Amino acid sequence: MNILEIIEAKKQGRELSAFQIEFVVNGFTAEDFADYQMSAFLMAVWFRGMTSEETAYLTGAMLHSGEELDTSGMSAPTADKHSTGGVGDKVSLLLAPLAAACGLKVPMLSGRGLGHTGGTLDKLEAIPGYRIHMDNDEFLGLTEKVGCAIIGQSGSIAPADGRIYAMRDVTATVDCVPLITASIMSKKLAAGPGTIIIDLKTGSGAFMDDMDRARELATALVAVGKLHGRRMSVVFSDMDQPLGRAIGHANETIEAFAALRSDGRNSAPADLVALTEDLVAEMVRVAGLESDRTAALSRVREAWDSGRAFENMLSWVEAQKGTLDPDREDFGLAVAPLALELKAPRDGWLAKINCRELGLSLADLGGARLQVDDPLDLTAGIDFLPKIGTHINKGDVLARLYCTESSKASDAASRILASLDFSEASVPENLLILDRYE
Ligand code: URA
Repeated sequence: MNILEIIEAKKQGRELSAFQIEFVVNGFTAEDFADYQMSAFLMAVWFRGMTSEETAYLTGAMLHSGEELDTSGMSAPTADKHSTGGVGDKVSLLLAPLAAACGLKVPMLSGRGLGHTGGTLDKLEAIPGYRIHMDNDEFLGLTEKVGCAIIGQSGSIAPADGRIYAMRDVTATVDCVPLITASIMSKKLAAGPGTIIIDLKTGSGAFMDDMDRARELATALVAVGKLHGRRMSVVFSDMDQPLGRAIGHANETIEAFAALRSDGRNSAPADLVALTEDLVAEMVRVAGLESDRTAALSRVREAWDSGRAFENMLSWVEAQKGTLDPDREDFGLAVAPLALELKAPRDGWLAKINCRELGLSLADLGGARLQVDDPLDLTAGIDFLPKIGTHINKGDVLARLYCTESSKASDAASRILASLDFSEASVPENLLILDRYE
């Protein structure tokens, strides 16, 4: 067998065996063949697709290229959530301690943000002292003791994905369902959770903006997860507008932690509360702690309103050496000064947001990366106030922009304004939870 035969077989649309797929993944990771051969293979997959068996083999080969964590000794069911990413998506920061307060163990490996979507790891780095790296034993030990832990994915987790993703990025082969599935699932499976809930976002701020493609991805993710023995469920959620109000790092972390206070379900942005409790209830139900969604939701709300989720959050952050002051509204995190209040130029209903552009305006303030090694100002942020369907009067504050160099704020404000469409007639509010699949 050689790589040329495998490329030829895929080019002709033939189904590859597990052995052939392992040959490609292992050979590429070991640098046994050239980058141009891997790029030809990826392009053949892009055009010819993969069956669900091939996708499962690809995921398995990428998963086995690195370490897998063993969570079998944990004293409660383990569960995790993966979001396909969006603007203002700070759900993991609430979800992990809340799920732990419901009786689950949540070992979470997170990544960094790129472009218009943020990453949980960057948000956590806004907490002074927070340790994002530790070895696997310490990570699992903390998860068992505290109920949850969130660290950065080390190079030892699915290393083949890192190499293949970099190649996809420069060969126009990122947007390919089997390749996306193997990339997401190889990393998620490696952390060892028994239950995986996918928050699959669609809309102008998501990387899948059309529902048909989102369904195709959901089907592939669930099939691969189940083949690997995991309990799976997908929630399709709206990403035509930011989640909550805060877009940034320190400000999103503050919004998330404030929402977890015992009165948070009433005081925090309604969309952030609704999506978080839905996803945690899915974790609880699918992991088998409750038999239906209603009972799972009651368990989640009790854990939230009792203050146990908030206490868990403080224990988790302290266990990872982060310093928070729970008596302060900003928890003691550094936030850049207010540089500009963006006011509405006209009356009307907010009809549409180009959410990708809105997310990119954070980069104008220095708070997001356009390249992987761009420096990041974790204190920069935007509070974007209205939701689609809100009536706005000329002069109302649409957004507050926070940054250290106030001269950057006017570019960001122009970009935000250009991303908004107003309507003379009333516009309905967007649905948040669009569908489910399991
Ligand atoms: N997220 C991933 O981890 N991989 C992809 O290919 C796409 C989104």
